[in-house]
Amino acid sequence: MSNPSLLILPGDGIGPEVMAEVRKIIDWFGAKRGLAFDVSEDLVGGSAYDVHGVPLADETMAKAQEADAVLLGAVGGPKYDDLDFSVKPERGLLRLRKEMDLFSNLRPAQCFDALADFSSLKRDIVAGLDIMIVRELTSGVYFGEPRGIFEEGNERVGINTQRYTESEIERVARSAFELAMRRNKKLCSMEKANVMESGILWREVVTRVGKDYPEVQLSHMYADNGAMQLVRAPKQFDVILTDNLFGDLLSDCAAMLTGSLGMLPSASLGAPMANGRPKALYEPVHGSAPDIAGQGKANPIACILSFAMALRYSFDQGAEADRLEAAIEQVLADGVRTGDLLAEEGVAPVSTAQMGDAIVAALDASL
Ligand code: NAD
Ligand code: IPM
Ligand code: MN
Repeated sequence: MSNPSLLILPGDGIGPEVMAEVRKIIDWFGAKRGLAFDVSEDLVGGSAYDVHGVPLADETMAKAQEADAVLLGAVGGPKYDDLDFSVKPERGLLRLRKEMDLFSNLRPAQCFDALADFSSLKRDIVAGLDIMIVRELTSGVYFGEPRGIFEEGNERVGINTQRYTESEIERVARSAFELAMRRNKKLCSMEKANVMESGILWREVVTRVGKDYPEVQLSHMYADNGAMQLVRAPKQFDVILTDNLFGDLLSDCAAMLTGSLGMLPSASLGAPMANGRPKALYEPVHGSAPDIAGQGKANPIACILSFAMALRYSFDQGAEADRLEAAIEQVLADGVRTGDLLAEEGVAPVSTAQMGDAIVAALDASL
């Protein structure tokens, strides 16, 4: 049987820097755990635009559709700010999500004990935190029509449309309830049913799907209150289900509960393929971090944890995912820190590559 295929799209800015560390981890699992992947690499975002004039070439899109899993670094950067909207780096990522139909975006926010003092919140608010945000990823205001900038009278108007069908809400809700069943059986759905019809429908459909999961304790919250509750008392949540735009905001917010945006991984999952595994793309929640790109300062953990999610959700290697997460926890407990995790003065940060090497050493020690 051939090895499972992994398409790697490092992207822009710190994307290639953090992905280089993931490659070390992938090589380690191949050499030490007999987990071999057919790895291929391609371009996305600004780096694809530079070569092809588009942020995602059709051939790359086709490769992504074929791959058992796709791993992406980050896209975007100031160099591309003035490009036409249709070829902006971010459009490449959005095309991948849409055409692969990756409707369920899992964004876990876990506070490693060693980092509980690094959050901008007090230790006891975040210590032991382990929540999962399920963000709808292929619809809502990101994709709704009409959209565009139009002339209206003697001025222009910018239009985007929040649009959700019942079936779009239902499938992402189902994925969140399934996840809740495997976790603490607690799900909070967030929308703004007080001001948006799409929110009213969202609440109705989620409530209906919830009838199929009577063991799951379902609650509803307006998303603005949800944002406040996330920083007031985040441990009241287990699974949070929300739409595309609210999920984008709430997950960046949740990142700071873990100590740094450089810690948050994600899995974007679609319907099952012929082999029973979901179509999947794994990527850190953070962006291309232009302010630190090219300096070897980026924290590679979000991207490495995204590979751990790939081991778990695409390759049925939950025990190896646990091993990788434990290695990261060990390294953090040993005090190894990239600059984004430094609170104390006088402690020297390690580089992106040194962090990767430390995680490989911890993996070695786990054998
Ligand atoms: P960003 O996530 O790139 O950076 C926000 C802040 O967090 C910066 O100060 C950055 O230095 C820091 N940071 C992010 N990741 C880090 C890491 N791994 N280690 C240490 N520090 C880290 O968000 P932004 O600055 O708003 O956006 C920059 C570009 O990235 C934009 O073009 C944006 O569209 C794009 N973006 C891409 C993705 C993606 O590819 N999934 C996600 C978010 C933003
Ligand atoms: C994210 C990013 C993306 C989003 C951008 C880069 C398209 O912010 O993955 O969180 O808005 O979804
Ligand atoms: Mn975002």
